[in-house]
Amino acid sequence: MAELNFDKVLASLRLRLDEVTSENEFDEISKEFLGKDSLLSDERKKLSTLSKDDKKSYGEKLNRVYKSITDNITKSKIDFIDKKYSNLENSENEDVTINWVNKQGSHRHIISQVMDEVVDIFSSIGYKVAYGPEVETSWHNFDALNTPEWHPARYESDTLYTDINLETLLRTQTSTVQIRHMENNEPPAYIVAPGRVFRSDQLDATHSPVFHQLEGLAIDKNLKFTDLKGTLEYFVKQFFGEDIETKFIPHFFPFTEPSAEVLVKWNNEEWLEILGCGMVDPNVLKHVGYPKEYQGFAWGVGIERLAMLKYQIDHIKNFYENDIRFLEQF
Ligand code: DAH
Repeated sequence: MAELNFDKVLASLRLRLDEVTSENEFDEISKEFLGKDSLLSDERKKLSTLSKDDKKSYGEKLNRVYKSITDNITKSKIDFIDKKYSNLENSENEDVTINWVNKQGSHRHIISQVMDEVVDIFSSIGYKVAYGPEVETSWHNFDALNTPEWHPARYESDTLYTDINLETLLRTQTSTVQIRHMENNEPPAYIVAPGRVFRSDQLDATHSPVFHQLEGLAIDKNLKFTDLKGTLEYFVKQFFGEDIETKFIPHFFPFTEPSAEVLVKWNNEEWLEILGCGMVDPNVLKHVGYPKEYQGFAWGVGIERLAMLKYQIDHIKNFYENDIRFLEQF
């Protein structure tokens, strides 16, 4: 029986594969060497004419050749594609890991900038910075701050609890840091506490479930409401400019008595609320074990609110979307 010289077939296959210049040629080569008009296929047709033994041995040989041709084509195709992409990478000379470096330089997020600015204003008049955890106990967020059991702020519709017994939560206000500071430090106290707070709020133009506040606390022997007023008026003028007008109106907060809201006159027409404040309620000082002769004042201000007013930002979501066109303006 005349067998085809398969070494020759494989040699000519290798020659063909070496000359390939485009990916679709591999399909053509497959057809040429394995398709129905290929030499291999002609040989297969002859099998039926052979004796049983020859059929078996030649059939097995044809299968080995078939596999060898397929393997050669596949390997050659993979090498071809690898080479194509490594050539492309070299020619573009682009290292994506290095290209991340922003050639224009980078800067702090507007919220961090405003937070730093507010902290700086209070540092310059002697306040130290204090921090507290974002996951808090109900005690620090509510009880110690003289907030009664029935207060609506404690509802699960307002506060994000982290356990089913409602004993731990995501702090709803930085006022918690007042308590933590006084628990751990003897009076007097002059601190500001910047940080993130959480509420079960829907996102709208002025509300976000996560936002930032700066808390302030001043406790000493002779502090009066006039000290509170002078301190906060100083802050507002430093932040918005000397010409800004402020007014204090009565309000209610569980942890201060009396309590007030500070409003600023915007564009010479509307009064807008910017912060809450008051004289620290004696119950709060009792909870942290401060001696009776100490008293003082506290306040809490929303950082997003300050930034929106100062920079005329119309929707709170701008701060969190990380759109570079918004961020690079500041
Ligand atoms: N914690 C209040 C809030 O989130 C803001 C506040 C009001 C803080 C009065 C104070 C304060 O320290 O005295 O709405």
